[in-house]
Amino acid sequence: MSLQGAAGTEELIFYVNGRKVSVAREELFSVRLTGTKYGCGGGGCGACTVMISTYEPASKKIRHYSANACLLPICSLYGAAVTTVEGVGSTKTRVHPVQERLAKCHGSQCGFCTPGMVMSIYTLLRNHPEPTSEQMIAALAGNLCRCTGYRPILDACKTFCKESVCCQRKANGKCCLDQEDDLFDKEEKVGLFSTDEFQPLDPTQELIFPPELMRMSENQPKRTLFFHGERMTWISPVSLDELLDLKAAHPKAPLVVGNTSVGPEMKFRGVFHPIVIAPARIPDLNVVKRMDDGLTLGAACSLSLVKDILTNAISEYPEEKTKVFCAVLQQLRTLGGEQIRNVASLGGNIISRKSTSDLNPVLAASNCMLNLASRGGKRQIPLSDIFADGVGNNTITPEEILVSVYIPHSRKGEYVSAFRQAPRRENALPITNAGMRVLFEEGTDLIKDLSIFYGGAVSTTVCAKQTCRTLIGRHWNEQMLDEACRLILKEIALPGSPSGEKVDYKKTLVVSFFYRFFLEVLQSLRTMDPCRYPGIPMEYRSVLQDFKTKIPQSIQIYQDIEPSQSPQDPVGRPIMHQSGIKHATGEAVYIDDLPSVDGELFLAVVTSSRAHAKIVSIDTSEALKGPGVFDIITAHDVPATNEFYYSDGPEIIFARNKVICVGQIVCAVVADSDIHAKEAAAKVKIEYEVLEPVILTIEEAIKHNSFFEPKRKLEHGNVDQAFETVDNIIEGEIRIGGQEHFYMETQSVLAVPIGEDKEMDVYVSTQHPAIIQEMVAASLGVPANRIMCHVKRVGGAFGGKLLKAGLLASVAAVAANKTSRAVRLILSRGDDMLITGGRHPFIGKYKVGFMNDGRIRAVDAKYYINGGCTPDDSVLVAEVSLLKMDNAYKIPNLRCWAYACKTNLPSNTAFRGFGFPQSALVTETWITGVADKTGLSPEKIREINMYKENEQTHFKQKLDPQNLIRCWNECMEKSAYYSRKTAVNEFNKQNYWKKKGIAIVPMKFPFGLGTRYLSQAAALVHIYTDGSVLLTHGGIEMGQGIHTKMIQVASRELNIPMSCIHFCETSTTTVPNACASVGSAGTDVNGMAVKDACQTLLKRLQPIINKNPKGTWNDWIKEAFEQSVSLSATGYFRGYNENMDWEKGEGQPFTYFLYGAACSEVEINCLTGDHKNLRTDIVMDIGYSINPAVDIGQIEGAFVQGIGLYTMEELKYSPEGVLYTRGPDQYKIPAVCDIPEQFSVSLLSSSQNPYAIYSSKGIGEAGLFLGSSVFFALRDAVTSVRNERGLKKTFALNSPLTAEQIRASCADDFTEMVIRR
Ligand SMILES: Cc1cc2nc3c(=O)[nH]c(=O)nc-3n(C[C@H](O)[C@H](O)[C@H](O)COP(=O)(O)OP(=O)(O)OC[C@H]3O[C@@H](n4cnc5c(N)ncnc54)[C@H](O)[C@@H]3O)c2cc1C
Ligand code: FES
Ligand code: FES
Repeated sequence: MSLQGAAGTEELIFYVNGRKVSVAREELFSVRLTGTKYGCGGGGCGACTVMISTYEPASKKIRHYSANACLLPICSLYGAAVTTVEGVGSTKTRVHPVQERLAKCHGSQCGFCTPGMVMSIYTLLRNHPEPTSEQMIAALAGNLCRCTGYRPILDACKTFCKESVCCQRKANGKCCLDQEDDLFDKEEKVGLFSTDEFQPLDPTQELIFPPELMRMSENQPKRTLFFHGERMTWISPVSLDELLDLKAAHPKAPLVVGNTSVGPEMKFRGVFHPIVIAPARIPDLNVVKRMDDGLTLGAACSLSLVKDILTNAISEYPEEKTKVFCAVLQQLRTLGGEQIRNVASLGGNIISRKSTSDLNPVLAASNCMLNLASRGGKRQIPLSDIFADGVGNNTITPEEILVSVYIPHSRKGEYVSAFRQAPRRENALPITNAGMRVLFEEGTDLIKDLSIFYGGAVSTTVCAKQTCRTLIGRHWNEQMLDEACRLILKEIALPGSPSGEKVDYKKTLVVSFFYRFFLEVLQSLRTMDPCRYPGIPMEYRSVLQDFKTKIPQSIQIYQDIEPSQSPQDPVGRPIMHQSGIKHATGEAVYIDDLPSVDGELFLAVVTSSRAHAKIVSIDTSEALKGPGVFDIITAHDVPATNEFYYSDGPEIIFARNKVICVGQIVCAVVADSDIHAKEAAAKVKIEYEVLEPVILTIEEAIKHNSFFEPKRKLEHGNVDQAFETVDNIIEGEIRIGGQEHFYMETQSVLAVPIGEDKEMDVYVSTQHPAIIQEMVAASLGVPANRIMCHVKRVGGAFGGKLLKAGLLASVAAVAANKTSRAVRLILSRGDDMLITGGRHPFIGKYKVGFMNDGRIRAVDAKYYINGGCTPDDSVLVAEVSLLKMDNAYKIPNLRCWAYACKTNLPSNTAFRGFGFPQSALVTETWITGVADKTGLSPEKIREINMYKENEQTHFKQKLDPQNLIRCWNECMEKSAYYSRKTAVNEFNKQNYWKKKGIAIVPMKFPFGLGTRYLSQAAALVHIYTDGSVLLTHGGIEMGQGIHTKMIQVASRELNIPMSCIHFCETSTTTVPNACASVGSAGTDVNGMAVKDACQTLLKRLQPIINKNPKGTWNDWIKEAFEQSVSLSATGYFRGYNENMDWEKGEGQPFTYFLYGAACSEVEINCLTGDHKNLRTDIVMDIGYSINPAVDIGQIEGAFVQGIGLYTMEELKYSPEGVLYTRGPDQYKIPAVCDIPEQFSVSLLSSSQNPYAIYSSKGIGEAGLFLGSSVFFALRDAVTSVRNERGLKKTFALNSPLTAEQIRASCADDFTEMVIRR
């Protein structure tokens, strides 16, 4: 926002990292702090977390709180001190203990989330230098990380916590919890970090609050502040009177406090407010008044403050009086993340009247009152009145403001509860919520008063008024319950959505919540008179406890290095990520952090709003008139190639004549700022003529015979004959939804024309610089040697930054070429999710023949993947899904087809696991189907059919499954599977509405890229005369620690410390034609190349070393230089000899196999479908780990991504093919609340691998599939519910197995009621 001086305009003064910023003097623009990251822009990811400190002159207190910078209006900072990650510490000054510990505990991988994590932890520590583990976990609820799986971040956090919750090794090699913990105490543990190295936290070292701001706040007369921006005016009054005048004068102007409702509307929904009024400084709106019968809280109080006030009140008042407070607190605990609660106001939450407000139902049910004021006078109304008309938009006039809210004490005989169910337990808007209150006639269970309010159901909070009225005078018993549910379902009308989704689930929740309230009250009545009211049966009681997030216990087991290994040799040691400290200090540079180039332009894309249509016209006239707009780029501006043919069909830069999906890039606007470019892009008008057919789903593709070629088939044995001889056959189908990569750094490019010889530097967030170079060169029609692609690091990729990054780089390069200016393209999260596709949605159909003893004899399967509108890697993904479908099992007769469907969705692409996570889930699904049918346990079926000795896969590749069996057995043992299964069964017998489930899943993950040339690699090593070494290779650092490992390799080979070796960037100028960093192969292949280069150098140095064996490295290098020995060498690896003959269905497409097994235990709430991941034990064979910290991090991160894929991440499209889920508010990836409470990862010892560097194995992808153990544990819990209730034995579950599906599968009277209606 730029602010202009104007009459009455105040100088906007605040501090950033101890430095004064005065916007009127335009210093703001010189601050240039890039440590704070931008991951979503909507408050949902926490990457932009900063600390705000304010001074309260009355109390003389300084308040520190975390906030999302992306939603903070700059004018709200007047008089505040902002601390960003740079202000916490830096390598140039002092690295703060938070930064140090996050890095040293391996809490950063790609590092893009890390500054946000640092700020959340730092802010907590400023307020609580010795926090509890609950405070710590709550502080991180609003921060997402897509790489680490959170465990190492939490390990770092634990080191600051007061109580001991750590599992780090102590000096004696024992975990500090071992005494009480029978879980892990048999294990020999080796820690991944040593706390001895950590600096202590010293609160006296922190930045002080700027005295000038204190003086300003104490001495300055309070007056209304006006700030005028380019298009907006911000007015901040100081008295209620002024506010009322302003509101009367500008009734349409919103009152902005936290900006968490207005901000997203302005940013994402195009709402514009020329004037905003900020009432936060008005004392009446900040009042906190305790009265005899309740509390009055000012409307501008932040939700965090409300939480604190209620928590204190609960500890001070008798329980009887605090039931409303407890119920409100219940909602506040999970409402948003801490950053949101710190700024979002009570009044804002109420007045926004969103159906998703967690507070309105409970406040309305509790008879809270609103104190309103306007120029016309003051009045008090019941909060429930604002929903009286069912749409929630009359009652309060536009001139009226909410001054405060009265929350009453509860009375004797009164019970209040609040409930919510969301797609994720924390930091997620609710699907449905409720507030309920009942008051009984004194000493009885006769209903005197009843209120029931629901949220999430329709457009605003609704009241089941009729129901409540009808039930007055009734006893609190089963008959009342039955009638109440019927009445509620009748009264709470839920309109059907086009796809019918969630409506039945919402209806089920509506009655299930009432039932839960019924149980709670029955149980409470017991305390009043246990003889008359015996309470609820024992087995029902556990459902009254909500799942809580605890800081997890974790353990990592790996093989220690041989005692004989040189102390300097880093291979095999848990070395910190080379950029770890820089991630944590915010110094690590990503594309958006690169300094601006003179004359640089920003690019915003214009995308298709139709799935399949002819482009009739593009009208750019309005857009071109926009401020700062420089040009508009279309297909006509592409000098050479606009369409790339890598396989069956083109990959397209700009749509020409027609569009084939919603989100296809049609043209792009370049302007002097990101905002101007986006504003103009919204003004481009495209006229379409819809084309038929529009194919969106796999079913529609089958109907229209719309596929990418070739279709693939593998056949082995005699399937038809086998089916004739088996005892049993099952047939079924499973659907697996797609998955968004959700790398934290969105796709980003900076294209800089050099100005001569058509050279261009292209800085891209990509896994494949060579393809960027190739595509950019082809699109510009210049030789590849003019295009220099540079990649320092990538903020997460997971397969999503290959071809798609190439197309986007071409868009930017074409614009840069046309304008002769540098062009920066940073996709917004919404555009990134819309445009770039993700993991393929999948349907697996199967027919399986087996014997009664569990032996599977024949499988006939068909896989369909939704490839989207262009081929990308879809056929390859289909092929891999076929090759890896056997997972860990020997299937003697097998026939399997794979089809890549061509549809009008955005083109799907590579994603960690590449087809295996889907086809192996199909396999494990029919394994459980066979178990159901034979009555044997799933683990027995798995064991019976597992590869056992040297065997051949279904495409005749040899494998030795010994390590598979070892992983399985160790996992069985480490997880104490059988005893825990017994405990689970026991729990399930004693609990009716909560059930546990446990499952163990094996895994064989073949490593290979199918053909030799794809795994070639090269490295370049320079030794400078001062002895320092510059290393480069073709691999990309995207969080997987490849550069750290390569430096470890070079260090061992050259026999010098890692500190002598530097890695600068991956570039097409240093290593040409490098293969993509994909398929877990980076370390394997680049490691070989680095080793080769180092050995070449060492060979050259050897005569010098031999001559002076006691000399130092620097002596030898100096001598070598003087002898004219070349100190630069390339290294090369030819790649693995892999091949596959699809005609014959035979080959050696893989080089080796990784193995693993995971056992997971979960608990479900049958009334809501919610679940908790209790424990996971993973055993993995990854050969000899070069860096156990990095490798375990990969396993855990992938596993948690797998939990996301299989249990929560859901993409939703409109019937017209428009993606709805375009940000973290709608698309939920796992957060800290989703990781198992107990989490162990063990690396299989003594595993050798002759094919890869130092006997290691490529580990990036394999762990993802192990997330399916949670899916099957959930299935086990659901099975137990269904068995108990006598429900049909066979049932189908699709992925993701969301709360909605779990609830629907646990059919009961409530689901029946919903279906019957
Ligand atoms: C990432 C994210 C997660 C969230 N998660 C949840 C959640 O889980 N549950 C939930 O309930 N909510 C959630 N929210 C919504 C959030 O709680 C509300 O947006 C917030 O409480 C609104 O307060 P605010 O101060 O930010 O409102 P603002 O955006 O500043 O204002 C909101 C509206 O209220 C009006 N208003 C504000 N104060 C007054 C007043 N005193 N008198 C009259 N009108 C007034 C304004 O005119 C404006 O129209 C989430 C929001 C975000 C961004
Ligand atoms: S960028 Fe601010 S929360 Fe995501
Ligand atoms: S390290 Fe957290 S998102 Fe990459």
